[in-house]
Amino acid sequence: MTPAGASLLDRLAAIEGKGLVAIREAADSATLESARVEYLGRNGQLADVMSLIGTVEAPARRDVGQRANAVKMVLRGALEERAKALESATRGPRARIDLTLPARARWVGGVHPVTRVIDEICEIFAELGFTSVLGPEIESTWYNFTALNIPLDHPAADMMDTFYLEKDVVLRTHTSPVQARVMEACRPPVRVVVPGLAYRRDSFDPSHAPAFEQIEGLAVDEGVDFVEFRAAIEHFVHHFFGPGTKSRFRPSFYPFTEPSAEVDVSCTVCGGGGCSTCKRTGWITIMGSGMVDPAVFEAVGYDPERYTGYAFGMGPARIAMVRHGIPDMRLLYEGEMSFLQQFA
Ligand code: DAH
Repeated sequence: MTPAGASLLDRLAAIEGKGLVAIREAADSATLESARVEYLGRNGQLADVMSLIGTVEAPARRDVGQRANAVKMVLRGALEERAKALESATRGPRARIDLTLPARARWVGGVHPVTRVIDEICEIFAELGFTSVLGPEIESTWYNFTALNIPLDHPAADMMDTFYLEKDVVLRTHTSPVQARVMEACRPPVRVVVPGLAYRRDSFDPSHAPAFEQIEGLAVDEGVDFVEFRAAIEHFVHHFFGPGTKSRFRPSFYPFTEPSAEVDVSCTVCGGGGCSTCKRTGWITIMGSGMVDPAVFEAVGYDPERYTGYAFGMGPARIAMVRHGIPDMRLLYEGEMSFLQQFA
């Protein structure tokens, strides 16, 4: 190669190296523009070299020309890249937010009103020394009925009310079977609450659901009497429904308690004067209850001469309906967001 060709190649290498540094380090668009003028401009360094290519003799001329074009492409590419980077840096992330756009609705999660009732009931009984325990939803007829003193020909055990899975296996129709399981597993004193689902062959209507929550309660020890029972229920009623709420025990019947009672509270909507929630009676039934029947103690191997106890069962969905004035139980189970959002 001729001396002229070699020196032009050297100059091109220097232009490429220095030009790239100048372009990449340009801190703003004005500096970038002077780098462009200096290296790629009409009277810039590269143009200067190109104007001398004609003086180089063939065949080196072709090499120098190709090299000059390559340097031009490299510098142009770097220039474009740097211009883009500087532009987005000056606009910044803030500048790209359109403050005139309407805000997007924010979803706030919430605890389902029935779950909230269950949690509160368990917490109030925890203050009285009750532990929360769970039991199986698929249950034997022994625990669901027989151990609870319900003969299998009792209407409650009838095919009409019960989902049978096999001859002696059912979806539990209440949470009461867990009473028997707990007593079989533990010696007294026993104080438990049992939240969970129960199943019945009921239609899905404003006051029934084929799958629904229940909370069972059981307290057994030596000397547990009706006075302790009433005190515990009153403590619960005052803490859950408010200190001014009255309660009353109405005689009733359950095979697993004797005596049995239904507990009513003064209507939390009208205060007892009579309204549609309490069907004009001033009272709302919140649970079935009673003193544990000795036959149940015998079935689980507790000495009925030595131990006494009380039990109760309530439906958190019904209680949530009373609390919030919800007219139709299906609303609590259909998962409709427009309904549930008000509880978030
Ligand atoms: N198991 C009953 C039901 O499903 C509710 C109940 C009533 C539970 C009285 C009890 C009780 O423990 O003592 O309707």
